[in-house]
Amino acid sequence: MSMIEVRGLTKSFQQAVKEPGLKGAVKHLFLPRHIEKVAVKPLDLSIEAGETVAYVGPNGAGKSTTLKMLTGILRPSAGSVSVNGLNPYTQRMANAAQIGAVFGQRTQLWWDIPISESFSLLKDIYQIPDALYRKNLDLFIDLLGMNEFIHLSARKLSLGQRMRADLAAALLHNPPILYLDEPTIGLDISVKQKIREFIKQINQEQQTTVMLTTHDLGDIEDLCKRLIIIDHGAIIYDGTLSEVKARFAATRVIFFQVRESMPELYQLLEQTPGLKLEQQSGKEFSVAFDRHEYSASEVVSKVMNYGEVLDFRMEDTQIEHVIKAVYDGHLNLNERRGTGRNG
Ligand SMILES: Nc1ncnc2c1ncn2[C@@H]1O[C@H](COP(=O)(O)OP(=O)(O)OP(=O)(O)O)[C@@H](O)[C@H]1O
Ligand SMILES: [Mg+2]
Repeated sequence: MSMIEVRGLTKSFQQAVKEPGLKGAVKHLFLPRHIEKVAVKPLDLSIEAGETVAYVGPNGAGKSTTLKMLTGILRPSAGSVSVNGLNPYTQRMANAAQIGAVFGQRTQLWWDIPISESFSLLKDIYQIPDALYRKNLDLFIDLLGMNEFIHLSARKLSLGQRMRADLAAALLHNPPILYLDEPTIGLDISVKQKIREFIKQINQEQQTTVMLTTHDLGDIEDLCKRLIIIDHGAIIYDGTLSEVKARFAATRVIFFQVRESMPELYQLLEQTPGLKLEQQSGKEFSVAFDRHEYSASEVVSKVMNYGEVLDFRMEDTQIEHVIKAVYDGHLNLNERRGTGRNG
């Protein structure tokens, strides 16, 4: 049995349909019309203990809805969920003890009391033993740099401070499972880095299972070996990050440094399908090529025909390009392997 087991999990919402204007409002009052919005289509998913999984997809894809069903906040319309052997919705209390959750858009801290007091309330609620509490608190204060604001109330914190406090709050009771819904949204790069390091360390030291949604591809690159892409409520990819890059990034880029500028080469590149000149400035330029049409060595030798090459390097595939193409519907991901494809 996997840590998280999902079979045929579905969520539909009734969405009110109202015609515009006053007339529509009145009509809706007496004759409300609803349509059924399927936010999550029958979903199958297995996540093993200790995995770090990125759950990504465009706005409205169904990411938060999935996480809400996994945490027990929302009741599924159909299907089954088992998290460490529990049903999160019907066994909410028991489930709360084994999970930590951060929904980036809102805090679970008490708004008007100092963070340190919020933490000790959580200690009582989760019945965390003294020694564990002290150990975790000291560690989290240190790793997340919380000393400067732990005496302040949540209301007074900056977004980055609040997110760090929320993350600590979610983990004080050492839950084996951590759900994060956009944990780095709106944060500056240094706070992002801190949070990523922290999650990485918790995962490595305690084998915490981590599932996170994000629009920040840095989060995925830094944290998650496994990537699940969801679109219109259905999983369209489930595999490793490197695989999605290798399989779907048709374009590769080689950066060249040459002794003399190569105008004839630049001209040739402009006219050759499958090859493209990028960021050319003086004696440095990049060539993008379709790896289904050319090999890297073909490209390098082509360039060498036009003059002396001082240096070249392959640039790493930008995951941004790949995911954007997926979002835009430009990639056919149907050949995807692994678990969980439905409908
Ligand atoms: N309580 C609700 N009532 C009606 N419709 C809802 C409700 N919650 C979500 N939806 C709809 O379900 C769909 C999925 O929403 P969800 O919040 O899961 O998307 P998401 O992938 O988290 O998007 P984002 O990246 O913008 O956070 C959307 O079309 C949304 O409008
Ligand atoms: Mg969301």
